[in-house]
Amino acid sequence: MSQKHGFGRGLTNYGDADFALYLRRSFARSMGISNELLGKPVVGIAMTPSGFNNCHRTMPELVEAVSRGILAAGALPRPFPTISLGEVFLNPTSMMFRNLMAMDTEEMVRAQPMDAVVLIGGCDKTVPAQLMGAVSANLPAIQVVTGPMTTGRHRGERLGACTDCRRFWGKFRGGEIDVDEIDLVEGRLSVTAGTCAVMGTASTMACISEVLGMSLPGTAAIPAVHAARLVAAEEAGKAAVALISRPVLPSQVVTEKSVENSFRVLMALGGSTNAIIHLTAVAGRAGVRVSMDRLNEISDETPVLVDLKPVGEGYMEDFYAAGGVGAVLRELRHLLHLDTINVEGRTLEERLAEPLDWIDRSVIRRFDDPVSAVGGLIALKGSLAPGGAIFKRAAATPELFEVEGRAVVFTSLEDLSQRIDDPDLDVHPNDILVLQNAGPHGAAIPEAGYLPIPKKLARQGVKDMVRISDARMSGTAFGTIVLHVTPEAAIGGPLAAVRNGDRIRLSVAEKRIDLLVDAAEIEMRLADHAPPPAPKRGYAALYRRSVTQASDGCDFDFLLP
Ligand code: FES
Repeated sequence: MSQKHGFGRGLTNYGDADFALYLRRSFARSMGISNELLGKPVVGIAMTPSGFNNCHRTMPELVEAVSRGILAAGALPRPFPTISLGEVFLNPTSMMFRNLMAMDTEEMVRAQPMDAVVLIGGCDKTVPAQLMGAVSANLPAIQVVTGPMTTGRHRGERLGACTDCRRFWGKFRGGEIDVDEIDLVEGRLSVTAGTCAVMGTASTMACISEVLGMSLPGTAAIPAVHAARLVAAEEAGKAAVALISRPVLPSQVVTEKSVENSFRVLMALGGSTNAIIHLTAVAGRAGVRVSMDRLNEISDETPVLVDLKPVGEGYMEDFYAAGGVGAVLRELRHLLHLDTINVEGRTLEERLAEPLDWIDRSVIRRFDDPVSAVGGLIALKGSLAPGGAIFKRAAATPELFEVEGRAVVFTSLEDLSQRIDDPDLDVHPNDILVLQNAGPHGAAIPEAGYLPIPKKLARQGVKDMVRISDARMSGTAFGTIVLHVTPEAAIGGPLAAVRNGDRIRLSVAEKRIDLLVDAAEIEMRLADHAPPPAPKRGYAALYRRSVTQASDGCDFDFLLP
């Protein structure tokens, strides 16, 4: 008795391979699988439904559609669960658990008997986690995303999570709308299944997965509730079966060239700052690293072409109808590596040789008629961030690009929430708000970099200020915000040395962020810096011991190749 594929792969160790296969088949029969199907190749389906993940509400029908495709192509589908990360349901922050999900995915793909795998995710951290796991497991894999929500309506205006969540919350804080209206808005922001309706982190990562070549062409932007989303899932099932006889491994798909293409599209999308951390982590699993200088070169060469919130006006449903990722790739064609291959084994050149029926130019602009002439994201360096920081210039206020200001410092998330709205807070519109100890070690790098405008200034009509932290911000947020300052304050980076009243200078033109304090004084202030106490047990202890800085993707050091 022997079988090298499907249920015959990776037998349980009993010291008797024939016994292990006989026992496995016997137990598989208890699931009601016929003898004929037991002998077929197996495609695993990593599914992530959860009562704590609204963005994955359609998971059952997506699993059914993928299974349908797998069966139609002659293999046996085997769905299996991994953990699921619902962005707003996790404490202290979903980011802390991305690596746990990546480990779960990698180990279950490797440990269970499957010839290929389809990964279904959607919400912010789930797609990066699945891609990281897939690259490390290096079994033929296809990424399917749940797809974006469609928009709601409020008093004649379209609303979509979560840029409009923040916009209306800002109005509420500023006293422009009352509690009754914010209650109404709460019920109108997230009105269908799917991921956030704008070019936030989930949508950016869906697009990146397609550009990397890990998702099927044309699938990133299909709305969650559109029938085409189920067809795409069915096609992914069929394509996964094709991968068994003609394997294309993630290590062949995620390469330096496909990663550079992905960074380029990220710039053209005006995509999420978080995608830099996630793409760095996915690339890192393949041993690929793109330097900050190269990132800035790519950004300076690549215009923002997509007019979507939070940078512009539209929503993901508009992007899909306008032509999606395929339309953006065609505009960037002359800047792309065209010899990259996708999970189907097709080159990008072959994909782009096919015609697109129509492109809505109000949403996806021509290369020579961009939304803005340069890319959405840049890396900053300087005495405040020797290891780098990220700035989303596409979502910032140009008048604040070249400024020097007085620091108003918050030493922790708790300090921020206690004092930001204090009427006695010494803060002026031209000050620079600084948040410390919110990096990977300090607080598991939450989306706290979008510091609220102090209420007393918001009520005077102040809409934006320079804000600096070692935290992240939501991909749906906007403002003149410097993020991911590296090294972070908790491990003694210069950010920890900033005191109230220090002068800080931001220069987008020079791509610098500087603390205007003598180097010797900074060194003296940091001399007695002590890291926060480390958790003693469990995943929190593992996380603290092993997490890398934002510039390295916040992966665990022991998961790198
Ligand atoms: Fe899941 Fe925004 S909360 S994508």
